[in-house]
Amino acid sequence: MKTIAVLTSGGDAPGMNAAIRAVVRTAVSLGLKVKGIKHGYDGLLKEEIIDLNARSVSDIISRGGTVLYTSRSKEFKTDEGVKKAAEICKKHGIEGIVTIGGDGTFMGAKCLSEQGIPCVGVPATIDNDIASTEYTIGFDTALNTAAEMIDKIRDTSQSHDRCSVVEVMGHKAGYMALQIAIAVGAVDVLVPELPVDLKAIIEHIKTVRKSGKSHFIVVVAEGVGDSHEIARIIELETGLESRATVLGHVQRGGSPTVRDRVRATQMGSAAVHLLNKDIGNRVISYKQGKIVDFDIFEAHEMTKTFDDGMVELAKETAI
Ligand code: F6P
Repeated sequence: MKTIAVLTSGGDAPGMNAAIRAVVRTAVSLGLKVKGIKHGYDGLLKEEIIDLNARSVSDIISRGGTVLYTSRSKEFKTDEGVKKAAEICKKHGIEGIVTIGGDGTFMGAKCLSEQGIPCVGVPATIDNDIASTEYTIGFDTALNTAAEMIDKIRDTSQSHDRCSVVEVMGHKAGYMALQIAIAVGAVDVLVPELPVDLKAIIEHIKTVRKSGKSHFIVVVAEGVGDSHEIARIIELETGLESRATVLGHVQRGGSPTVRDRVRATQMGSAAVHLLNKDIGNRVISYKQGKIVDFDIFEAHEMTKTFDDGMVELAKETAI
């Protein structure tokens, strides 16, 4: 393989730029040519392809977002779209692609690999919901951003003796919500993976209140439901003045933490080393302290179990 490309796709995540940088610099170090595809698979279909060199990725390791832009492409999801994308790769001399993103990005990578363009996926999503890996780029930064915001909410919640319901991102995944809940000392956490029992939460708040606690934080993952409605019910049932705050996309931005920069650099580099050996259709993963890789399809079939130990820990310490 002489020429590879790199793209970012799906929701952006802090650390994507560090991964792009690692891909480009590793490729250049190995004597490969490297191209950047803007706007993910959508941009590939529109031939938004640029040449990159070691200097093109200077000063991006500390920046959030993605300098290559991102998108969620509808056209690419069709058979015609994938075939067209493979033809465009051939036209531009792209022999392999590092695709940085989440599960959707990896499925795109699998389809392109099947069309003769070997792809290697690098996991990047603040949700940390990819089964094959214990860690996805962006997770740590998003956690820290959310914790910083909730610490501020705690100050005002404490002053007013309120219950603050804080909605964090995670449409289908509560990994972020659970860790944040532990980190900010939330009284309860609601995640899409577990049954939602509002009555139990209300009873819990009442019990803890009797022991002298006067302000409360309840963390709700986005996918659970309307956090304003949850706050309204808590206020109605407990008599505690309650407010809801939706953190939203603030969690997707910001300068990546050291952890995200280092993982992104390791993963981006590992992906290029695979392509350099003409190995495609793989995803890079982090398992038990090591960077490993799996077949994309096998990775897609894997399941990630919710960490019962962490759920217990959150409960045990929220009294
Ligand atoms: O996948 C990351 C994520 O931030 C989810 O937590 C969230 O549900 C979704 O993306 C939001 O997507 P959008 O940027 O399209 O609003």
